[in-house]
Amino acid sequence: MDSWLRSRAAVRVRRGLVRRTEPQAGLIDLASNDYLGLAGDPRLAAAAARATDEHGTGARASRVVCGTTGAHQGLERALCRLTGQDAALAFSSGYTANLGVLTALGGPGTLFIYDAHVHASLLDGIRLSRSEAVEVPHNDLAAVATALAARGQPRAVVVLESIYSVLGDAAPLAEAAALCAEFDALLLVDEAHGIGVAGDGRGAVHAAGLAGTRHVAVTATLSKALGSQGGAVLGSTLLREHLVNTARTFIFDTALAPAAAAAAAEAAGIVLAEPELAHRVLRNAQVLALACGTEPSAGAVQSIPVGSPERAATVTAALRAAGVAVGCFRPPSVPDGVSRVRLTARANLTDAELRRAAASVNRALESGLQEVPA
Ligand SMILES: Cc1ncc(COP(=O)(O)O)c(C=O)c1O
Repeated sequence: MDSWLRSRAAVRVRRGLVRRTEPQAGLIDLASNDYLGLAGDPRLAAAAARATDEHGTGARASRVVCGTTGAHQGLERALCRLTGQDAALAFSSGYTANLGVLTALGGPGTLFIYDAHVHASLLDGIRLSRSEAVEVPHNDLAAVATALAARGQPRAVVVLESIYSVLGDAAPLAEAAALCAEFDALLLVDEAHGIGVAGDGRGAVHAAGLAGTRHVAVTATLSKALGSQGGAVLGSTLLREHLVNTARTFIFDTALAPAAAAAAAEAAGIVLAEPELAHRVLRNAQVLALACGTEPSAGAVQSIPVGSPERAATVTAALRAAGVAVGCFRPPSVPDGVSRVRLTARANLTDAELRRAAASVNRALESGLQEVPA
């Protein structure tokens, strides 16, 4: 095994594609998902400290054993208030929320129809469920309709993201929901990049008037705009009850730490009370896109195609050296095989930071950086 691991590592080094896990302090942050700047907000820290005092640092057990605390219940109520959904169930991450809901809804008799650009956690959940599945081209509702009309399975779930994580574009949610209603299917929308950003912060599903409707359910992360850690599934009380009893990543996983639950609940309240935060992140995303000569996207993510993985790594390194952290997206993290640098706007970036960052991005892209030979 060791010699194989060494040979894989050597290939990554030769191609300049080594992923790193060092802290990145002192850079202008266009890489994190802290869209509203709430991860550093003292109100979240105070809520986390209160929950730790009251409940301890760890949840101690699965939610279905004795891991449920008032912090978890408060979080689920706060998420329902924010998104307008009837019920919420908190998971220990967005990843486990997606695995949990997809495996609990899947299996024999369920067909998953999923967009080609959905996140790895959704793909993994579909695979783990051992259901029949059809991939449809990105945002192609005609292909969704064809798959729904041709299905032989009694149940179907259409899986989309409200704002896609790599390209930052939006899904046609209202039309997708209408199709699901017509064919008696469930639309499952991952709002990881929508909540806190779209629809005054209440998410794209709420903005489309779909919150609380029978054919639509939502998954969310608490680790991006909500500045904490964890995930959730939002939908009907019937769905929540099914997940509590069947979702393996809920039942066989220690509950979210009370501090994370309380911080996310505090954030959900702030997002609801201060819609200007969501407006600000979209405004900053637009400023950044225009300054970098790209088309503004639907959300906080601006994605700039740069071609090869090596060039993405080189541009990212040049920007780090210039004091700007950006996301480096390359296979297998890019659905269409096109490597990109990803810029994420945040509500708390100043205009001076946006100008400085955009100038650095433009310089890095224009500096004729040569591709690293494979
Ligand atoms: C679309 C999408 N879904 C789910 C996740 C997973 O969320 P978490 O980081 O909370 O596990 C992410 C995170 O990158 C994401 O972008």
